Amino acid sequence: MHEVTVKGVTIPKLGLGTYRLTGDDARHDIAEALALGYRHLDTARAYGNEVEVGQALRAAAVPRESVFVTTKLAMGSLTRDRVRASAQASLRDLGLEHLDLLLVHWPDPDTPLEETLAALTELVEEGATRAIGVSNFPPSWVRRACELAAVVTNQVEYHPYLSQDALLAEAERDDHTLTAYAPVARGRTADDPVLQEIAHRHGRTPAQVALRWLVQQPRVVAVPRSASQQRRRENLGALDFALDAEEMARITALDQGLRLIQGGRVDWER
Ligand SMILES: NC(=O)c1ccc[n+]([C@@H]2O[C@H](COP(=O)([O-])OP(=O)(O)OC[C@H]3O[C@@H](n4cnc5c(N)ncnc54)[C@H](OP(=O)(O)O)[C@@H]3O)[C@@H](O)[C@H]2O)c1
Repeated sequence: MHEVTVKGVTIPKLGLGTYRLTGDDARHDIAEALALGYRHLDTARAYGNEVEVGQALRAAAVPRESVFVTTKLAMGSLTRDRVRASAQASLRDLGLEHLDLLLVHWPDPDTPLEETLAALTELVEEGATRAIGVSNFPPSWVRRACELAAVVTNQVEYHPYLSQDALLAEAERDDHTLTAYAPVARGRTADDPVLQEIAHRHGRTPAQVALRWLVQQPRVVAVPRSASQQRRRENLGALDFALDAEEMARITALDQGLRLIQGGRVDWER
C-alpha cells in the first residue's frame, strides 16, 4: 500500500515536493523529512535546488538506494542534445550516479515527441536513470508517449477539486501511475467542510483526508510540499488510515474543475 510497482519500477506512494525549497531551508527541511520517513523526493531543474536535495540526501542517515529521487528536464526545447545535457546537469548537481525517475516537465510542441522519448530511453539504457515519465501531458499526448517509451508516471495537478478521470483511464490502459502535484490544493483543503467532517470522524486533519483519498487510489502517488516539520509529519500520516467507499465517493464529488497551475501550451481537453 505504501508503494506501487509499474513496469518493474517500485515508487513510494507519498513523496516530498520540493518546489520553492532552496538554500539552507531546503537542506534542513529535506534532511528532516528523510528522518521522518519520506523515501521519495520530487525536484526539477526548474526548482534550482538539486544541489541542496543531493546534500540533504548525503547528510541523512539513509542509504541512497532506499530513496526514490525524481527530477524533471529543464523547461523549453526537448531535442536529444538538450535532454542529454539536462540529465547530465541533474546528475552533477544532485551528486548521484543515477536518477530513479526523469520526467519531461511540460510538453514541447516544437520538438517531435519521438526524439525526446528516444533520448530519454537511451538514458535508461545507459543507466543514467532507472525510469522515465512525463508531466503535464494531456490524454492524447500521454497516449502517444506510451506508444513510444516505457512511461511509469504522468505527473499532473490532482486534488479533490480537480478530477483526472481521463488521465486515470490512460494510466490504467497503459499500466503507469498518476503522480498528484498540488495534492492539498496549495492548502485549500484545510477549510473544506466535507473534508473537515470526514477528518473529524477519523481523528485526522482535512489535508490528511485529501492525501488519503489520493494514495488510496491504486495508481496514484502524491507529492505534497510543506515548509513546516509538523505538516510534513501530518502529510506522511495519510499512509496509515483508510477511508470507506462512501467517504471516497463524497470526496470525488468535490470536483469543481479547479486548475491552480497554468503553464505551457497545453490543451487539457485533448
Ligand atoms: N510537474 C509540475 O509541473 C509541478 C507543478 C507544481 C508542483 N509540482 C510538485 O508537486 C509538489 C507539491 O505541489 P505544490 O507545492 O504546488 O502544492 P501543495 O503541496 O498542494 O501545497 C503546498 C502548500 O500547502 C501548504 N500545506 C502543505 N501541507 C499542508 C497541510 N497538511 N495543511 C495545511 N496546509 C498545508 C503548504 O504550506 P506550508 O509550507 O506553510 O506548510 C504550502 O503552502 C511541488 O513541491 C513540486 O515538487 C510539480
